[in-house]
Amino acid sequence: MTSKPIPLVDLKAQYHTIKAEIDSAVADVLDSCAFIGGRYVEQFEADFALFTGARHVIGVGNGTDALLIALRSLQLEPGFEALVPANTFIATAEAVTHAGGRPRFCDVDADSYLLDLDRAEQLVNDSTRVVIAVHLYGQMMDMPAVRRFADRHQLLVVEDAAQAHGAQRGGIRVGELSSIVTYSFYPAKNLGAYGDGGAVTTDDERLAGLIRKWHTHGGDQKYRHEFEGINSRLDGLQAAVLSVKLRHLPQWTLRRREVAEIYHRLLEPLGLSLPRESDPGSHVYHLYVTRVDRRDRVLSVLQDKGVHAGVHYPIALPFLEAYERFGHKPEEFPVTYAQMDRLISLPLFPEITTGQIEQVAQALGEALR
Ligand SMILES: Cc1ncc(COP(=O)(O)O)c(C=O)c1O
Repeated sequence: MTSKPIPLVDLKAQYHTIKAEIDSAVADVLDSCAFIGGRYVEQFEADFALFTGARHVIGVGNGTDALLIALRSLQLEPGFEALVPANTFIATAEAVTHAGGRPRFCDVDADSYLLDLDRAEQLVNDSTRVVIAVHLYGQMMDMPAVRRFADRHQLLVVEDAAQAHGAQRGGIRVGELSSIVTYSFYPAKNLGAYGDGGAVTTDDERLAGLIRKWHTHGGDQKYRHEFEGINSRLDGLQAAVLSVKLRHLPQWTLRRREVAEIYHRLLEPLGLSLPRESDPGSHVYHLYVTRVDRRDRVLSVLQDKGVHAGVHYPIALPFLEAYERFGHKPEEFPVTYAQMDRLISLPLFPEITTGQIEQVAQALGEALR
């Protein structure tokens, strides 16, 4: 039993490192009552545009709505198909359905956990319009390869960067080779709000206009609705929190990478398959995911030793009750299916101490014995 339980993510520890800045930013919003729209949202959108290099940033209610609004803004015909990796959070697929399409699940690469483009080749059909590149666990997909694949089949590319704020690979940043990027600012994300939040980014002015309308009832002037949109806005309080946290994000990302390095070093002797970076620096380590046999037993031994590990995700999308209608079989997704019961995410957050990392590694070593 370790002295104090080690959580998967420690939001409290982070808050305490930036308490004065956050408290003052929140007090400013309360003082000005700029709750919906207004200067804090505008400021964060400008800050995030600078950070991502995107020309347009539209703050929305959460990362799920960001995907829905992105897909709606692409004006796809009902029944379109979107390629979605079999292992991601349900939001990626849900948005496709709610935008009037059908998610076409694709197996993932065994080492990177990212959508396998070779497999995707076999899934493209006359209805396929979009490929959703999910930068899972913080690792960016090979975007030039995604672009070539998309161009070959005349597909649009949407990047789901809910777990990959600020990632780049081979000198290419998130957003450089796609039409639209979506972000989540769920509290536990690398850039997390103190409630729900999300954003859509694009370099395309026409798309940006549509996204702006989509997220606020189909119009950009009050009571002038050009179409039925939805109500999904980033609010002033979240925007002010995010502007503060964004200033710290580069440092936090460096620390996440450092933590991952320490894990690599300590876990290498255990013979586990550790996260591999396809390109040095391409991973922003939202999660540190490895694979173990008898996962449930390992999780319970870790729990007894005060280490809270997670699983992302225990049931891959094709096998969820929500997608029973597609009647998928394990053999359609051999990699995803084989990995599903073995994935384990270790505690990783910028404030984790080296001592805590050592405790996690030691506990894992003991759990595997
Ligand atoms: C890959 C991925 N896409 C989309 C989402 C949805 O984001 P939100 O929870 O903000 O709706 C998440 C968040 O959990 C995610 O991890």
